[in-house]
Amino acid sequence: MGYKVAVVGATGNVGREMLSVLSERGFPADEVVALASRRSQGSEVSFGDKILKVKALDTYDFSDTDICLMSAGGAVSKEFSPRIAAKGCIVIDNSSAWRYDADVPLIVPEVNADAIVGFTKKNIIANPNCSTAQLVVALKPLHDRATIKRVVVATYQSVSGAGKDALDELFSQTRAVFVSDPIENRKFPKRIAFNVIPQIDVFQDDGFTREEWKMVAETKKILDPKIKLVATCVRVPVFVAHSEAVAVEFEHPLSADEAREILREAPGCLVVDKREDGGYVTPVEAAGEDATYISRIRDDPTVDNGLMMWVVSDNLRKGAALNAVQIAEVLINRKLIQPKRQAA
Ligand SMILES: NC(=O)c1ccc[n+]([C@@H]2O[C@H](COP(=O)([O-])OP(=O)(O)OC[C@H]3O[C@@H](n4cnc5c(N)ncnc54)[C@H](OP(=O)(O)O)[C@@H]3O)[C@@H](O)[C@H]2O)c1
Repeated sequence: MGYKVAVVGATGNVGREMLSVLSERGFPADEVVALASRRSQGSEVSFGDKILKVKALDTYDFSDTDICLMSAGGAVSKEFSPRIAAKGCIVIDNSSAWRYDADVPLIVPEVNADAIVGFTKKNIIANPNCSTAQLVVALKPLHDRATIKRVVVATYQSVSGAGKDALDELFSQTRAVFVSDPIENRKFPKRIAFNVIPQIDVFQDDGFTREEWKMVAETKKILDPKIKLVATCVRVPVFVAHSEAVAVEFEHPLSADEAREILREAPGCLVVDKREDGGYVTPVEAAGEDATYISRIRDDPTVDNGLMMWVVSDNLRKGAALNAVQIAEVLINRKLIQPKRQAA
């Protein structure tokens, strides 16, 4: 028998994408269950060519479920993940609730799949923030070759990273601009339509935002605690896919040509880097795709051993749903999990 998989947050941006990714990749599941809040109980979501009726998380019994892909926010995860894990169901969580817990592995399979074995302490595995996931996929092969000392990154993050209500806000504000209706800001602190907002998540005392802090803490945990990173995270009026302008300083020399060759061979990376009009990837092309696209690779003449690059990926896929499903595949491929119903 195959696995029984529950998707929590199945009506949300990430949850819907998880269902698509599970179906597209032919994940070895006998049964997939869609869960969300009581508000959505009985509503329907697509899973390949099937329709699933949504069940309520708080009344669902996880006893015979093997894997829970969780994407319902930090508060829900804090409350439910330990209870689900205690039923012997491995939770792969998309929120920030467990990412910094020393007993919870934070995994990007192309980068640190071996760290997954630590999941047995809590039966929980964390998925990184979307902006970190694509960044570390691009940094890892370069770090292996030339040892990264410092990274300076500016992000251009799409609204889908802030959930389904944020997508609606960009759509309705854009319409309101055209028909001269009043503009309402609900999800974002300022207008997002035809604007950019240099704030994602809350401010900390040091002037950085929590999103910027997450990129630092998560890059250290996934890739190397010695890497220094500083970020400016910006929300832009793009529906799907995050972009990042990245400056990297290495311990050892690495030319742009060498970096391009290394990245061409690297798992999860696709280099599109022609030095001509349009010879790079933009969010519109990356949306719906699995790869982390790397463009505009060039030497940084202002530091020793410095490179600049442009990194784009679908935040709902590599930044969330795809990464979570890849983690589940690592569990299965490495035989770290057996279907409960077969074991019984
Ligand atoms: N979007 C991204 O790029 C991204 C990337 C990485 C991580 N994440 C994380 O993934 C999580 C989900 O993000 P999203 O963008 O998919 O948000 P979303 O579109 O707002 O969807 C939220 C989902 O959570 C469900 N939910 C809310 N409260 C619940 C409760 N009490 N019990 C059960 N289900 C509940 C919602 O169900 P109802 O429809 O019933 O309300 C909905 O299915 C968040 O933790 C987010 O930080 C998102």
